[in-house]
Amino acid sequence: MISFAPMLDERRICPSILAADFARLGDQVAAVMDAGAKVIHVDVMDGHFVPPISIGAAVTKSLDSQVHGAGGWLDVHLMIEHPEQHVADFADAGADSISVHYEATPHVHFALKAVREAGCHAGLALNPGTPVTAVNALHGSFDHLLCMTVNPGWGGQTWIPESNARIDALRSVLPGDVPIQVDGGVDAATAGPAVTSGAALLVAGSSVFGAADPAEAYMDLARAAGAR
Ligand code: DX5
Ligand code: ZN
Repeated sequence: MISFAPMLDERRICPSILAADFARLGDQVAAVMDAGAKVIHVDVMDGHFVPPISIGAAVTKSLDSQVHGAGGWLDVHLMIEHPEQHVADFADAGADSISVHYEATPHVHFALKAVREAGCHAGLALNPGTPVTAVNALHGSFDHLLCMTVNPGWGGQTWIPESNARIDALRSVLPGDVPIQVDGGVDAATAGPAVTSGAALLVAGSSVFGAADPAEAYMDLARAAGAR
């Protein structure tokens, strides 16, 4: 957990390392951070909440000093059952924000509280099929809203078109100081409309790390979104 002003108050592209080449993860993260990225998104999957298994606290920890040394922020997205049981591990690994899924636990309020008590910024994540009214009982318990714009579990999917209306609906029920993060299918074509609908934080995996030059792809996307 870092002590400088919250990083998530400005419009940002958040490169997702899920699409990076893990054999040279440090170099890939350095490339996008040199190009201006500050928020590095870490997708954690357990083979239960979502079918694939991805990475965990050890890989998060491996980026801790590099990302923070460059003035960045580690944004962990837990796609795992019972996230409340793992919050402390990710906070210890250097996470600055931790998002937990509404659908992943009967104890989502408790899980969000655990994230804050661990000293991290709490994100509430919603699947595409979860009604936006899910946020109503949780106002004040989270610091940003992660709106899935594909079904969680895989990179490289296509943006679900109905997401724009969902972002708009969420924007109208969330307090102005709670940013909306969109995750899945973000590219140069979908980024601009997402921002127009009310998204401020745009996670991008394959459109950044799947490109021949991730730094250039990051800058193109930042321009398309009017982001930093
Ligand atoms: C999907 C993950 C995303 C993923 C996005 O379950 O939460 O963060 O990395 O990948 P792209 O940008 O390729 O859709
Ligand atoms: Zn994600």
